[in-house]
Amino acid sequence: MSILARSLITGLTLLGLAAFWLFSVGPYRRLDVAGEAIPRALPPVLGPFEAEPAITDQNQWRRRRATLLDAFERDTYGRLPAARPARIVSVSPISPQDIGGLRGAEQTEIALRGGGRFNLVLVVPNARVPTPVIILQNYCGNRAAFPERPEAIATPLHYYPFNCHSGFFRPIHQLIFGPWIDGPPFERITRRGYAVAIFYGGDLVPDRRADAEAALAGMDRRDTGAIAAWAWMYSRIIDVLSADRRLDPHRMIAWGQSRYGKAALLAGAADERIFAVVALQSGRGGDALTRHRAGESVGAITQAFPYWFSPRFRTFIERDPPIDQHQLLALIAPRPLLLGYARRDGWADPAGAIAALRGAEPVYDLLHAPRPQFFMRDGRHGVTTQDWDETLDFLDRVALPR
Ligand code: GCU
Repeated sequence: MSILARSLITGLTLLGLAAFWLFSVGPYRRLDVAGEAIPRALPPVLGPFEAEPAITDQNQWRRRRATLLDAFERDTYGRLPAARPARIVSVSPISPQDIGGLRGAEQTEIALRGGGRFNLVLVVPNARVPTPVIILQNYCGNRAAFPERPEAIATPLHYYPFNCHSGFFRPIHQLIFGPWIDGPPFERITRRGYAVAIFYGGDLVPDRRADAEAALAGMDRRDTGAIAAWAWMYSRIIDVLSADRRLDPHRMIAWGQSRYGKAALLAGAADERIFAVVALQSGRGGDALTRHRAGESVGAITQAFPYWFSPRFRTFIERDPPIDQHQLLALIAPRPLLLGYARRDGWADPAGAIAALRGAEPVYDLLHAPRPQFFMRDGRHGVTTQDWDETLDFLDRVALPR
């Protein structure tokens, strides 16, 4: 093995150990957030906002929705790209032999008018009625979401992390971030009657600064950040999947963990066709209040990932923003929302998320909808079997029976 390869492996192992330390025994240790209170400075979700007076009825909330979404685009995420027709270019069935016997999988290539393509892998259970579908992004590309890494499933179209190029690092990913970090438990999900659609956001906007900035510069709206672009991809997927008769167009669920939880929340806030949202450990720029000032700071996130957000987001490093994440959660009302956390994930600020959730509840109450749900599991940042069981139990409660 060359010196370069050896130092690379040592470097990555050290990085893995550092991440392991940070999220398990390091400064972000086990948290007890049960008694968390709403910060006093949090603007009440139904209170006056910009030029608008306080809200007392559902019609006024409709108007407020538009104002808030506009404010999130302006101050936090940058503008969502305009809707563009999406069409299916090809559908290729994936042989069960190539993916551990899993049936009903196919790869769909989607093209967007005006340029841009991406791949989706859809796994549909064999059912007599149209099934709900869980739409999610993955970290390593669609092929790597299957342990067998079948050639029939495309790898990402642009940059993707080195540690995702082969199966070599999969056990390390799983050790640090749980068994389902690279891809969901397809079998477990389809057995419960849900279809799964996975995509790699990096097919359009890669998750690396220079590549992301180049891709975002080609978008039609000013200041679009990567999270907004990924959120917009959920909507383009819904455009094409809504015409698929095997799927229930009224039960399309946006699911995401961590950075992709941020995108799933924004997708749900912006696109009312999304039936429900599940966001796990979405943290700063996701469900945790920006003004909560615990765990990852606005300074840290905008330094490491400036391209995720509108440039205005970093102006809130020291001052509180005019909008905060409880208002993002409220934009999902009255639709079902589940937030999940891990006790050893202080970086993602679970207490800030609980406070945001409480801050959003008055809108669910106004719309006579069941309040959002929250669960806290043991362990670290990542995706565990419990996370998926919590997800499916929640969806069974809100999406079934139809
Ligand atoms: C980093 C980042 C977080 C993000 C996380 C993830 O830790 O700071 O904001 O949520 O990556 O996506 O796993």
